[in-house]
Amino acid sequence: MINMNQFLLELHQKYGPLNEGQTANYIPELASVKTNQFGIAIVTCDGQIYSVGQTNTDFTLQSVSKPFVYAMALQEFGREFMRSHVGVEPSGEAFNSIVELEKRTHRPYNPMINSGAIAVSSFIKDKNGISREQRVLNLFSQYTNREHVIDDKVFYSEKETAHRNRSIAHLLRHFNVIGDDIDESLDLYFKQCSVLVNTIDLAFMAATLANNGIQPLTQKKVLDKEFIPDVLSLMFTCGMYDSAGEWAYTVGLPAKSGVSGGLLAVVPGKMGIATYSPLIDSHGHSVRGVKAITDLVRMYKLSIFNRAQ
Ligand code: DON
Repeated sequence: MINMNQFLLELHQKYGPLNEGQTANYIPELASVKTNQFGIAIVTCDGQIYSVGQTNTDFTLQSVSKPFVYAMALQEFGREFMRSHVGVEPSGEAFNSIVELEKRTHRPYNPMINSGAIAVSSFIKDKNGISREQRVLNLFSQYTNREHVIDDKVFYSEKETAHRNRSIAHLLRHFNVIGDDIDESLDLYFKQCSVLVNTIDLAFMAATLANNGIQPLTQKKVLDKEFIPDVLSLMFTCGMYDSAGEWAYTVGLPAKSGVSGGLLAVVPGKMGIATYSPLIDSHGHSVRGVKAITDLVRMYKLSIFNRAQ
């Protein structure tokens, strides 16, 4: 079997020149990022790091934050509370869809789409004298073993233009999924989306989930083992939104994408895989990232349905 570093280099050379897709220009600040950036990183459960390309370049987490903040809320409030507010069904709709809130239960279908994630963010409050914003930053530091900050430009850029997310939040309030602190909830959501990370950080985040909630380097518990199946099953069925079925069929791993171009996938018990490249497809996934992870999974038989051993 070809050496992992060599294969990552081949993938970088193969997909680096691909110029399909566009930047997430509905957030004005994201429209102008350099589109040639491309990084791939792998962190194994025993802490080995493989990387190629721009894996130290910072970008904002965007929707990659969703499963992690959901996991934090799950740990704090428990399954019953979370399930009574946010469902666990794939919506089959785009990440920013509002239509399902009018249907059936008037609850967000799942925590990976914006409606579910905004509801989840509304449950995170200041605690023990630590602001909700700082709690979220601390959360990501536990996964990555380094300090994080919020990109204020991206935060304000999204906040000022987020008319659709505002409508979603007001509908959530109308159906009593969230409370009266609508603006504070949206602010936390925009802030978690604006946390700066790099591709190595994403790989550590994925590797911690792969390693039953234990961060591979610090060996500290970031998430209770009992909640790992909740988070991974939701990433598997809903993490890739309206192409989750296609992703499950072709790749077969729990994953989460973000519109700034980050993408991570979890190989349970083995490793976390992450990519960064800002050109995204119509579903909001990095074009180069999807292709690179698809090839990687095929080469090393990493799908949860088709393991090498
Ligand atoms: O709410 C939004 O539109 C963004 N802050 C996040 C969306 C996102 O990353 C969708 N995923 N690919």
